[in-house]
Amino acid sequence: MSEDLTGRRLGHYKIDGVLGRGGMSVMYRATDVRLGRKVALKVMGEHITGDSEFRERFVDEARNTSALDHANIVPLYDFGEVDGMLYIAMRLVDGSDLASLISEGPIAPNRAVELLGQVAEALDTLHEQGLVHLDLKPANVLVTSREASHEHVYLADFGLTRRGATGHRTSTGDFLGSPTYAAPEHLRGESVDGRTDLYALACMLFACLTGSAPYKGEVQEIIQGHLQSEPPRVTSRVVLPPAIDDVLRRGMGKTPEQRYGNCKDLVSATRNALSPLGKQGDQPPRPAPPEAPPSATQSPPSGPHPMSSGPVPPQAQPQHSPQPQPTAPPGTPPGGMAPPGTRPGAGGPGTPAGRGAPAGPPPVGAPGQPMPPGGPQGPGEPVRLRPPMPAQSASFAKKSDSTARWLVPVLAISVFTVIVVILIIAFG
Ligand SMILES: Nc1ncnc2c1ncn2[C@@H]1O[C@H](COP(=O)(O)OP(=O)(O)O)[C@@H](O)[C@H]1O
Ligand SMILES: [Mg+2]
Repeated sequence: MSEDLTGRRLGHYKIDGVLGRGGMSVMYRATDVRLGRKVALKVMGEHITGDSEFRERFVDEARNTSALDHANIVPLYDFGEVDGMLYIAMRLVDGSDLASLISEGPIAPNRAVELLGQVAEALDTLHEQGLVHLDLKPANVLVTSREASHEHVYLADFGLTRRGATGHRTSTGDFLGSPTYAAPEHLRGESVDGRTDLYALACMLFACLTGSAPYKGEVQEIIQGHLQSEPPRVTSRVVLPPAIDDVLRRGMGKTPEQRYGNCKDLVSATRNALSPLGKQGDQPPRPAPPEAPPSATQSPPSGPHPMSSGPVPPQAQPQHSPQPQPTAPPGTPPGGMAPPGTRPGAGGPGTPAGRGAPAGPPPVGAPGQPMPPGGPQGPGEPVRLRPPMPAQSASFAKKSDSTARWLVPVLAISVFTVIVVILIIAFG
């Protein structure tokens, strides 16, 4: 999406610059000329103003944000429409987002606990109101040190937030969002609840402590990791008390039942696990020494690169072009490959190039932008996907069926040839 309203007026807002860009909307720094105050102004992309589903989503986002009154949730100021363009005005957070902080390397454990503790407070409030954020990732966590003597955190971006336990899907049944921090049940299209966000919070904790997300690589590898691989050990990447591995294993449990009861419990367990560090926890952790290679008899490692082996179900492939999708309605059991499609406008950079930085190039995969063959690049990129099949999926069964189809005639020909040879030897 290349639109940039910088320098223009939108109602009583003067647009001063771009803060971040998604495929569905652009976040601007703006001035409310009536009050003379600076705001963050999220404007729905011009290219989707005619799409009723996305208009509804945008209205939902405004409603959800305004319904949430919490010190760690970005306060909404205004919502409206000018020339068919919907906008949301909110508090301008003068700082950085967690994605930018993590991009500089591991964060000091005491600081990570403090920042994520505030995210947990916001999330538990959201969950108590029956909402699930469903797009929890470092780019949606804003951090500022200009509002208080300590760092203050705001949870942002309620564009995918949903009420109740219904799976999060478009009308055509696609997953929307970033798979990097997405829980297995969310990727599968099963029902979601607060524990779905808790899983994402645990992944963010992993990223804060180690400097990178737990599962890396192509979109398919990331999904495979969430669905099937043991959570990698934090201590295989950085030097920290081993108890943190147990906390992450529980926080990133494959099923919601295995996880903590709420987000604050995850953060308390983290605080306890890291307490032996004391003042040392004010420094970023050191990289862990390389591990000895596993012996031949050991099972595959759950270490740093757990998902590099094995095929990825083709259903987990990102969908690449924006055509409409003649698919089964949401709730239909995950099926075969869907025709391609991207989240209209969701291909934006998961991590803006720095808040206040000038706008980058149009997002990969955004409407009108070709998606590279390997899918969206970089962690945190939002994608639109068909729900992936479980490991024992029909796609694998199909593979062995086709093997069986060519094995039968080959075996028949071989047996026939052997009989003919025996007959020639016997009677010739
Ligand atoms: N209230 C705010 N103040 C300052 N910057 C913000 C604010 N809200 C969001 N941003 C920045 O803009 C980016 C995009 O905003 P977001 O609401 O997440 O939109 P999108 O739906 O496109 O991801 C965020 O990642 C963050 O860096
Ligand atoms: Mg966002």
